[in-house]
Amino acid sequence: MRKEEENKVLVVDDDPRICWMLNEALKDEGYQVFTARDGQSALQIALKENPQVMVLDIKLPDISGLEVLERLRQAELRVEVIILSAHGETKNVVKAIKLGAADFVNKPFDIEEVKMHIRNTLEKGRLKKEVQFLRSELKAKNKFESFIGDSPQIIEIKKLIEEVADSGLTVLIRGESGTGKEIIARILHHISSRRSGPFIKVNCAAIPKELLEAELFGYERGAFTGAYKRKPGRFELANQGTIFLDEIGDMPIELQAKLLQILEHREFVRVGGVETISVDVRIICATNQDLEKNLAEGTMREDLYYRLNEITIPIPPLRERREDIPLLIEHFINIYNKQFNRQFPPLSPSTLQAIEEYDWPGNVRELENLIKQTIVRGDEGIIKSELKKRSSLSSSSPSPPQTTEDELSLKKASQKAIEETEKNLISKALNQTNWNRRKASQLLGISYRSLLYKIKEYGLGT
Ligand SMILES: Nc1ncnc2c1ncn2[C@@H]1O[C@H](COP(=O)(O)OP(=O)(O)OP(=O)(O)O)[C@@H](O)[C@H]1O
Ligand SMILES: [Mg+2]
Repeated sequence: MRKEEENKVLVVDDDPRICWMLNEALKDEGYQVFTARDGQSALQIALKENPQVMVLDIKLPDISGLEVLERLRQAELRVEVIILSAHGETKNVVKAIKLGAADFVNKPFDIEEVKMHIRNTLEKGRLKKEVQFLRSELKAKNKFESFIGDSPQIIEIKKLIEEVADSGLTVLIRGESGTGKEIIARILHHISSRRSGPFIKVNCAAIPKELLEAELFGYERGAFTGAYKRKPGRFELANQGTIFLDEIGDMPIELQAKLLQILEHREFVRVGGVETISVDVRIICATNQDLEKNLAEGTMREDLYYRLNEITIPIPPLRERREDIPLLIEHFINIYNKQFNRQFPPLSPSTLQAIEEYDWPGNVRELENLIKQTIVRGDEGIIKSELKKRSSLSSSSPSPPQTTEDELSLKKASQKAIEETEKNLISKALNQTNWNRRKASQLLGISYRSLLYKIKEYGLGT
C-alpha cells in the first residue's frame, strides 16, 4: 500500500455513474478517492486535498475541463491530470496536453485501463520529484563551485562553511562591501539540510527603523494605524529555512533584546500581540561595520555581540588575497561571455598588471562590474583608463585620513581611506548623472537602495 499522502485521486465527471464506478474500483485498489461533478467543486477539492492524480472530463456543466486545468496551473498545484475525452475531442486533447495534462483516456473506457494510467502517472510523478531533488542536490554542489578563489584564506573559508553549514548554529559573516558575504550566506543555506526550505533576506539598513520590527516579527490586526489585518513577519516566513539578516550592525538598539530572544529561544511575540510564536529558523547575519566600535559606542548590546560572535566567517578584502584575482577574472569573463553572447578573449598581460596594482576598494563586486562593462562594450582599454581614473580619484582625495588619535590603527586608517574613496566616487557619479540616483547606482554597480543608504551615510544629500 502507498503512503497515506501519496494516494489521493480526484475523479471529475458530470456523469454520476462514471464517478460512482471509478470511486468503487479505485477504492478497492487502495486509493483515497474524491469525486466532483463540476469544475468549481473540482478546484475546491483539489485545493483542499492536494491529490496526486486527477481524472478529468473535458465536458463539464460549468467551466470546461481545460479551464480547470489552466486554473490548477495558475494556482501552482502540482497534480498530475489524466484527461477523459469522448470521441471527436482531439483538438481539446491537444490543448490539454499543452496545458500540462499528463495523459488521456478515451471514452468509453475499460476500468483496468484507467487503473493502469493512474499507476503510470503516479510513477511518473514520483520520478519527476526524484529528478527535481537530484537537480537541487546538483545545484547545491554547483553553488560552491561558483564561489571562486584558491587563496589560503578562501580555502579556509570553504572549509569553515562546510563544517558549520549543517550545524544550525548562528553564523556571522564579516567583510567589506563586495567581498561576497551574501553569496556565502546563500551557500550556507543551499548546502544545509534546510535547502528545500525558504531563504529569506532582510536588509536591516534598507528598512526604516520604525518599520523594521513589524517587518521582522509581523503584527496583529490593530497593532498600529494601518494594521488592518494580521501580517506574518519575515521570521515566520523563514520557518523551516534560513533567514539572512544583512547589515546587522544597523539593527536599532531597541530591537536588539527581541533579536536576542529569538537567537536564544527561537521565540517571539508579534507587534501588538500576546501569543508567543515559535519558529524553526537558521539565522545568518552579515555586516561590513566595525561591531567593536558599535559596542564601544553603545549602539550594540554586549550580550547580542557575544551571541553573534560565536561563529564568525571573516572574508578578507580582495587586495589581501590577490592570487584570487586571475581566477575571478576568468570566471566573470566566462559568465558574461555566455550572458551577452560574446567571445571576449583573455585579458592582455599589461591589463592584468594594472588590475594587479589597483586596490579594489569595492572588492569582488567592483571587479565583476568592470569585467562586465568591458565585455558589454567589447573594449579591453576601458579597464586601464578606468582604473587610472579611480586611483587618481582616491589619491587626490581632498581630505586624507586624519590621524587625530595617535593610536589610530592601520586598519582604521585604511578603512577611512576606503570610505573617502567611496564617497568621492559616489559624488562623482551623482554629478555625472545630474543626481539621477538610479543611473548613478548603475554606473557605480551597486543597488539603488544601497546608494540611497550611502548618500545618507555620507551626508551627500545635504
Ligand atoms: N568568491 C567569489 N566568487 C565569485 N563571485 C563572487 C565572489 N565573491 C563575491 N562575488 C560576487 O561579487 C558580487 C558581490 O558579492 P556579495 O553581494 O555577496 O557581496 P557583499 O559582501 O554582500 O557586499 P555588500 O556588503 O555590499 O552587500 C556578487 O555578484 C557576487 O556573486
Ligand atoms: Mg550584501
